[in-house]
Amino acid sequence: MTDSFTFRLLATDGKARRGVVSMPRGQVRTPAFMPVGTAGTVKAMYLDQVRDLGSDIILGNTYHLMLRPGAERVARLGGLHEFARWPYPILTDSGGFQVMSLSQLRKLTETGVTFRSHIDGQRFEMTPERSIEIQGLLDSDIQMQLDECVALPAKPKEIERAMELSLRWAERCKTAFGEQPGKAMFGIVQGGDVAALRVRSAQALKAMDLKGYSIGGLAVGEPQAVMLDMLDATCPELPEEKPRYLMGVGTPDDILKSVARGVDMFDCVMPTRAGRHGLAYTRRGKINLKNARHADDPRPLDEESDCPAARDYSRAYLHHLVKSGEALGAMLLTWNNLSYYQKLMHDIRDAIEARAFVERSAEISEGWARGDL
Ligand code: GUN
Repeated sequence: MTDSFTFRLLATDGKARRGVVSMPRGQVRTPAFMPVGTAGTVKAMYLDQVRDLGSDIILGNTYHLMLRPGAERVARLGGLHEFARWPYPILTDSGGFQVMSLSQLRKLTETGVTFRSHIDGQRFEMTPERSIEIQGLLDSDIQMQLDECVALPAKPKEIERAMELSLRWAERCKTAFGEQPGKAMFGIVQGGDVAALRVRSAQALKAMDLKGYSIGGLAVGEPQAVMLDMLDATCPELPEEKPRYLMGVGTPDDILKSVARGVDMFDCVMPTRAGRHGLAYTRRGKINLKNARHADDPRPLDEESDCPAARDYSRAYLHHLVKSGEALGAMLLTWNNLSYYQKLMHDIRDAIEARAFVERSAEISEGWARGDL
């Protein structure tokens, strides 16, 4: 296993890229989907199951873990990998995005953000340096710069201010991170829905020669077409030989269209959150198990799936579990959904290698369009 952090491009098909990110804790096959393990747990799943589904890396959140159980405590207990019993790569978000969406009474200055915890109101300060320190205490393999993400729609001046601040914070994070051979700190492209700002952000980050580049501030209220335009503006500005991570995205359709534009990594709460809310992803689209039409249906979600949750349980039973609020309902549907997402990524990787990405993408979309089995 390597003692350094590297990215290797194995194949391309149009702008779609098939690669591998290597680091001491393992290899990440790209395009990759990273299940969200906000608080050191991928909700309703054993991490052994998450691994068995083909996940090479999971995501953790600085914001949640600093509040509870505390970064210093996790460090004393051997780091996040040891604490959660996941010995493979972990990527952590920096906290900026979650502070903005979850915390109370926040105040943002050049120095950083002060805020009150959404759990108990305790006051915290988050600076670029403290975010990197926390991600180090967690022993995260791929760390994110602290950034400011503005919700759309927003005024161009406001988008520009946040983008420029994020660039200055990227420099401070780079300095705080220093040289760590087996690990990486990614910069985050901001710029909202303004292509020219996206280009400026990407070019400035590229000049910092970071080990990877995230694309942030998307899927925050804008139509998909706007997100795709922003990817069209951003990806060509990023270096070919570094991984590109589109943060917080997305639906299976968002993923196909973003891979087509050159994105390598994704994370999203969608498969796990939807699973806890009675929604199942299948190759024929989404199925809402809350719906009474499933109450007498003995068929499984998808008899051709190799995931037991999809293949071995009747829709009637899943409907009953979901309607009764049973924990097993959330567990089975999350399992099904993550299985679906990882199978999708597997198919995408195979298709790029076979230079058949466009055709395979069209087949997958046709399956959703055809509707439920
Ligand atoms: N997750 C989804 N979008 C973003 C973003 O713009 N910044 C950060 N830090 N995390 C995100």
